[in-house]
Amino acid sequence: MSKNDFTKDIKNIIVVASGKGGVGKSTIAVNMAVALAKKGLKVGLLDADIYGPSIPMMLGLSDAGPQVAGDENNQIFIPYEKYGVKVSSIGFYVQPEQALIWRGPMAGSVLSQLLQDTDWGPLDYLIIDSPPGTGDIQLTLVQTIAVTGAVIVTTPQNVAIADARKAVNMFRKPEIKVPILGIVENMAWFTPEEMPNNKYYIFGKEGGKHVAEEYHIALLAQVPLIQSICESGDAGTPNANIDDKRYNEIFSDMADKLVEMVEIRNSVMKPTEAVQVDPNAEGCGH
Ligand SMILES: Nc1ncnc2c1ncn2[C@@H]1O[C@H](COP(=O)(O)OP(=O)(O)OP(=O)(O)O)[C@@H](O)[C@H]1O
Ligand SMILES: [Mg+2]
Repeated sequence: MSKNDFTKDIKNIIVVASGKGGVGKSTIAVNMAVALAKKGLKVGLLDADIYGPSIPMMLGLSDAGPQVAGDENNQIFIPYEKYGVKVSSIGFYVQPEQALIWRGPMAGSVLSQLLQDTDWGPLDYLIIDSPPGTGDIQLTLVQTIAVTGAVIVTTPQNVAIADARKAVNMFRKPEIKVPILGIVENMAWFTPEEMPNNKYYIFGKEGGKHVAEEYHIALLAQVPLIQSICESGDAGTPNANIDDKRYNEIFSDMADKLVEMVEIRNSVMKPTEAVQVDPNAEGCGH
């Protein structure tokens, strides 16, 4: 068990999740964090994708090595700072090949250490980018720290929507009960530069909006397919920082809606505690 509890100075901890992989969780998590920081809030971003961390690359921190304080009996991870956001990722501490061979319990204990031993200082928001799925890593997350709520990312495609439902159901399980603060529909449409008034619904129309309505969950944003998101993700410059008014506005509105939902949640519900799950019970399943 860790000696540290740096999460006690964090007001709100938000997990960004999805059922399906590749729907844009990391992209949304990064842009959410940057947009909140631009509003003057103190923000941290934790990459909990133990097996496939992508935040370092998205923030131009691929070459960043470990930053550790404390001593060998009590190692403390020091986050990097980028675009006004404090950032921590397993990617700063191990080579990708090393993480790939970890079995479940090892990955879980590495994640717990990263969660508990990163010295964020006081934060208004910690945004956690999670790996795809509804399995052990998600369970470790909600058992290790008190999560304020989850944001589910989906594309409008039916296969993604089906998995988004699974993610909603997992967080709502009676033994987990993490409130869902909103849904983000990503890759909602495509608008070519030369035809700014046209919208092409490549992955189907409004699937994320419909699932939000069905479950009575707020729709935080519909984010179109943006060519520069793809390019800037690889270049390490998140889109929220690029001077394109159209997209900045989408992410800024998304951040405002999240703040609004968190305020509502905090006014009507008790602060969340870390989930206690019977260690003999099965995982969340897939
Ligand atoms: N709105 C968008 N417009 C264009 N490209 C996007 C958009 N959202 C995400 N992408 C691109 O799609 C790819 C997958 O996005 P991302 O890595 O954020 O997904 P993910 O859900 O975190 O994936 P994983 O499940 O592997 O963690 C990336 O190359 C990213 O740049
Ligand atoms: Mg990701």
